[in-house]
Amino acid sequence: MLNSKYRAHIYPDIADVVRAAAHEWIALAAQAIAARGEFHVALSGGTTPRALYQCLASTEFSGACDWQHVHIWFGDERTVPPQHPDSNYHMAHEALLRHVPVPLTHIHRMQGEQGDAHQAARAYQAQLVAHMPLAAVPNATAIPQFDLMLLGLGPDGHIASLFPDTPILAERAWWVAAVFVEKLDAWRISLTLPVIDNARRIMLLVTGAGKAGIVGEIFAAPPETGGRYPVEMINPCVAMDWYLDSAAAQYIVEPTLSSTTFAIIPPL
Ligand code: 6PG
Repeated sequence: MLNSKYRAHIYPDIADVVRAAAHEWIALAAQAIAARGEFHVALSGGTTPRALYQCLASTEFSGACDWQHVHIWFGDERTVPPQHPDSNYHMAHEALLRHVPVPLTHIHRMQGEQGDAHQAARAYQAQLVAHMPLAAVPNATAIPQFDLMLLGLGPDGHIASLFPDTPILAERAWWVAAVFVEKLDAWRISLTLPVIDNARRIMLLVTGAGKAGIVGEIFAAPPETGGRYPVEMINPCVAMDWYLDSAAAQYIVEPTLSSTTFAIIPPL
């Protein structure tokens, strides 16, 4: 379902996608730190986000960010310990966090190793209450406002750990929740839609031909059809930037692009 708040940025390949996203991270961090003294970013799992973290850790980018004022959060987590290869924290630590001087007290990970995923979700909500700026939203109590929410896209349309046909998609009261995902036979912990929607900037990183079908379908469907994938349930308060490579964007057609804000960008 095409959303007027979508902006598509299409690059030749994944290397160009992550370089563009890294430039945007650096710019958003500088703006947030100048305006509010802190930059709060929620990280995603996934292969394209990992490539972004590696890019940010490179000598070209790592010196351009004021890491002392960056606060690292996570969009979702598996119920595993932090050193487990499936842990999103572990991935982000290996790709980025161990290479840059973010204060340890600014790294807020979901405690997937807790036996009870619900308890881990409540604990993360408490961390958000303690450390995140809250922002008023119409007809609701104030909720956290991330400066940047990074997301990947699963082939089934999931973002963070918001999978199709799971009850967490309807969660409006809690900012973080546990969900059992039947097809994975596993519990996950995830931020919920109200918090994702409320981010100052949402950046969705999608690359590879394997995502072309779902991306093409989403961009082809007129707004009135309503969305059927979790990613389409995001209702951004500002905008959602799709960072795509040409393989993932191959079925987006020109007339669709001209009805949204878009840029097809040559290699940087
Ligand atoms: C995770 C995620 C998930 C991921 C997508 C895309 O923890 O796995 O947060 O939402 O971003 O599944 O992953 P790929 O980029 O690897 O396809």
